[in-house]
Amino acid sequence: MGRWWSGSVGYEIYPRSFADANDDGYGDLEGLRLRLPYLEWLGVDAIWLAPFYSSPGFDHGYDVSHYCEVNPIHGDLDDFDRLVADAHDRGLRVVVDIVPNHSSSHHRWFQQARESRDSPYRDYYIWKDPARDGGPPNNWVSHFGGPAWTLDEASGQYWCHLFLPEQPDLNWTNPAVREEFDGILRFWCDRGADGFRIDVAHGLMKDPEFRDNPQRVPITDPENPAEVFGAYDHLHDLDQDATTDIYRRWNRVIEPYDAILIGETNPRTIDRVARYVEGDGLHTIFYLEPVWMSWKPVELLDKLEAMNRASDTGVSWVIDNHDASRSATLFGGGVDGQHRSLAMMTFMCALGGFPFLWEGQELGLHDAQLETTNLEDPISTRNEHGIGRDVTRTVMPWDTTHANGFSATAEPWLVAPDRPLEETVAGQKGDPDSWLNKHRELLSVRKSLPDLWQGKPQWFAAPRGNARALRRGDTIAVANLGQAAMEFELPPGSWEVRYDSRGTATGDRLAGPATVAAEATYLLSLR
Ligand code: GLC
Repeated sequence: MGRWWSGSVGYEIYPRSFADANDDGYGDLEGLRLRLPYLEWLGVDAIWLAPFYSSPGFDHGYDVSHYCEVNPIHGDLDDFDRLVADAHDRGLRVVVDIVPNHSSSHHRWFQQARESRDSPYRDYYIWKDPARDGGPPNNWVSHFGGPAWTLDEASGQYWCHLFLPEQPDLNWTNPAVREEFDGILRFWCDRGADGFRIDVAHGLMKDPEFRDNPQRVPITDPENPAEVFGAYDHLHDLDQDATTDIYRRWNRVIEPYDAILIGETNPRTIDRVARYVEGDGLHTIFYLEPVWMSWKPVELLDKLEAMNRASDTGVSWVIDNHDASRSATLFGGGVDGQHRSLAMMTFMCALGGFPFLWEGQELGLHDAQLETTNLEDPISTRNEHGIGRDVTRTVMPWDTTHANGFSATAEPWLVAPDRPLEETVAGQKGDPDSWLNKHRELLSVRKSLPDLWQGKPQWFAAPRGNARALRRGDTIAVANLGQAAMEFELPPGSWEVRYDSRGTATGDRLAGPATVAAEATYLLSLR
């Protein structure tokens, strides 16, 4: 028997944008609890909650000022307990976010660390003397723009921050930091959490010598943080060999609770991924490249296959999350983008591991249209040309009442035009052909075919290019992401199309050479 997540599908929730029970414009844990029947109906097995901890909100919760408290805008610990109890009653697991790479600058550890060089908390963070010219100690850059170092005038030293200056990086060479986090993991497990999604899991350890990162390509637009960040080979600030030791330790801490560790990792190469999930470290890692890629089917399929070959059970597959444009938009927009998104998700349901949907993905949503004056993401507000993440973070469209049913009367924290009926849960639920019902059907078909995640993966030699096929036990997944229908030679036997992302072939019995529609994925089982 596998662990509980074997065969499970997860659902990412951004608590700020999901449902606002107390009508203050911010989503809360109680609002989310009241929506659990929807998630149960949809057929997901677990929810992952983005941070709901105390935070000044410079990065909307990814800047934690107290790891064991609930931010009052989201509720309190009693709300958390009620949410977990209700979710468990419904058979839903609850995975919480943990942010170990950095705390908030408002955390008491950092405040005390800043007060004096002799503070016992000083060494909880990464401090360095200025370079000879007085500038930052090395050339590392922040993901969110500017250098990864800010000068603390009082002590004359720089602190390291791979994100905002308000997100100082913790010093994971300090045993006291490791002990603090053991306690935080136990705290949430004792309250019933079923696991953790680990933010920037590949970032914790840094090069012991803090060497410069080599620059790969020239920078054309210094105001664009993504371009600047991508111009370097992140040899020394990310994905250090020693980071996986931390997860072996965490694995021992959480083992008695049957909890999962899911890392948000972005290793330099696919062959470095297995290091995180082999042995007794993380259980799965989010493979994020498909989240950021535009529609390049050949490249996408090459990466998916390579990743599945690197680890069949250790990957949490995603095409959408709270950090990128929605896949329906990124994959070309319109109905084509929606079909491509579902075709990709369908194929990911056959790749083993623990796939996740992102709130609203099941509705086939495109990016929201936002006025620049309403942007909230620090990537947009602190940079001239930063393309921010707000477009995917607007409120969940439940119906066509005020603010799409998110809040009763309050204006949502992120102001955006309401979505029309056909983009809401209410508008799609009763329509068997809606995106919502197509996603629901996909989850139910996956559940009914355990071979799809348990069978040994055997990749077919053909087709290649923008199509790919994989057999697992008595099931086959064929993705044809090209623009024309394709012929695929089925192995001997009679095969039934159990799910077709286009919806036209479901139920068909096929044998020998079979036609697979354009930009579609079929899941078949042997009769
Ligand atoms: C991760 C989160 C992102 C956050 C960043 C810093 O990438 O997914 O939303 O801004 O880490 O914590």
